[in-house]
Amino acid sequence: MKSDVKDLGLNKQGRDRVEWAYRDMPVLETINVSMSKSKPLKNINVAACLHVTTETANLLITLKNAGANVACCASNPLSTQDDVAAHLVKDHGIATFAIKGINNRGYYKHIVDSLTIEPNITMDDGCDLVGLVHKSHKKYLKNIIGGTEETTTGVIRLNSMSANGVLNYPIVAVNNAFTKHLFDNRYGTGQSVMDSIMRATNRLVAGKNFVVCGYGWCGKGLAMRAHGLGANVIVTEIDPTKALEARMDGFRVMSGNDAFKIADFICSVTGNINVIDKHHFKLMKDGAIVSNAGHFNVEINIDALKKMSSKKRSIRTDIEEYTLGKKKVYILSDGRLVNLSAAEGHPSSVMDMSFANQALCAEYVVKNHKKLENKVYDVPTRIDEKVAQIKLKSMGITIDKLTKEQDLYLNSWESGT
Ligand code: NAD
Ligand code: ADE
Repeated sequence: MKSDVKDLGLNKQGRDRVEWAYRDMPVLETINVSMSKSKPLKNINVAACLHVTTETANLLITLKNAGANVACCASNPLSTQDDVAAHLVKDHGIATFAIKGINNRGYYKHIVDSLTIEPNITMDDGCDLVGLVHKSHKKYLKNIIGGTEETTTGVIRLNSMSANGVLNYPIVAVNNAFTKHLFDNRYGTGQSVMDSIMRATNRLVAGKNFVVCGYGWCGKGLAMRAHGLGANVIVTEIDPTKALEARMDGFRVMSGNDAFKIADFICSVTGNINVIDKHHFKLMKDGAIVSNAGHFNVEINIDALKKMSSKKRSIRTDIEEYTLGKKKVYILSDGRLVNLSAAEGHPSSVMDMSFANQALCAEYVVKNHKKLENKVYDVPTRIDEKVAQIKLKSMGITIDKLTKEQDLYLNSWESGT
C-alpha cells in the first residue's frame, strides 16, 4: 500500500490520541457499531480530502468498518497531525498522503495520490479534490457515483460549479445540515480559534480589542467566546442584516478601517478574499496580532504585507513578525486556518455530529445515487434529525413529543382565538 506520512514511528501516540477523541464521539460510535454489522459501504472506494485530525481518523475507521476501501489526503497544508497520519497507515492500513507543513506542490500531489484508489465516493473539505477531478484528472470521473462536502467554502465552490453546468456528479452539502453548521461552525470554531490564538501567543485576551471579521456561523461563535474571555469584541461585516444582528447581540460594529486602528487581535472568518488588505496594515497599531480561520489563506493579503515590510522573522512557533516602519504586525500560522494549524481543530464532541453526518451521507449516496442529478443536495432531514436524536440521547437528555392534538393544530389553519 502506498502512503506518504512524516514518520510511521509516531503511530502509537496517534493511536492513543485517536482513542481519546473517540470517547467523546458517541454519535459516530453508534453509527460505527451499526455499520460494522450492516456494511453499507461494502466494496466502495472512498477518497477523503479532510483535515487529518484525531476526529477525522475516527470517521475514516468507521468508513472502513462499514466495508469501504479508504484513501485519505489533507485538505490544508498545515492541518495534518502527523501522529494521526502514521496511525492510519500503520494500524488501519488506510492509504494516507499527508504531512504537516508540506508545500503547495506536495499538497496537490497528495490529492492526486489519494485519487489512485479510483474513488466511487469523494469526501471533500473545501472542494480541492473535486476541483482537481473536474479540471486535470477527469479520468477518475467514470467510477464516481457521488460525494460529500464538509465546509461553507466548499459548498460555495460546488454551487458555482453546479450553476455553470460543470458538476459531473451529485454532492451532498454536509455543511448545510443543522447538526453540522449550528454546532461545528459556531461552537467548534468559537472554542478552537480562541484555543489556537492563546496557545500560539500566550497573550491575555481579557480587556483587549478583539476584531472578528464576518458574523456568519463561525464569526458568531468566535465573537461569543472572545467576549466570554473578557475581550471587547468588534465585528466587521458587509451584510447589513448580519451587522445588525451583531449589534443587537451586544457587539460593537465598525468598518474595517475604523476597527483595525484599535485592534489588539484581528481574526477573519468570512470565506472571502483580501478582507484584511494592504491599506488596513497601514492603519494597525504596533503589536496587532492577525489571524484567519476561514477555509483558504486568502483572507489576509500577506503578499502585500511582505512587500510593505522592511523585515520579516519568525519570533515564536506559529508567529511571524513583520516590521513596518516603527511598528510590528504579527501574523499567526501564515494566514492559514489558525485553529487547525496552531491548535487541534474543533473538539471531538462537535466533530462527532459533523462526521456522523458524513458517514450517513456516504451511505445515502450509495443507496440513492441512481435517483440523484449532478447537483448539490442538502442533507436529508431524516439524517439531520437522527444525528440530533442520538446526540441528545448520549447526553442523557429527553425532550417532549408532540401530542396528536398539537400535531393536528400545527397542521391546521381554521382555529384562531
Ligand atoms: P457564513 O457564510 O455563515 O459567514 C461568512 C460571513 O462573512 C457572512 O456573514 C458574510 O457576510 C461575511 N463577509 C463576507 N465578506 C466579508 C468582508 N469582506 N468583511 C466582513 N465580512 C464579510 O460562513 P461560515 O460558515 O461562518 O464560514 C466562514 C469561513 O470559515 C468559510 O471559509 C468556511 O469554509 C470556514 N470554516 C472554517 C472552519 C474552521 O475550522 N476554521 C470551520 C467551519 C467553516
Ligand atoms: N475542522 C475543524 N476542526 C476539525 C477537526 N477537529 N477535525 C477535522 N476537521 C476539522
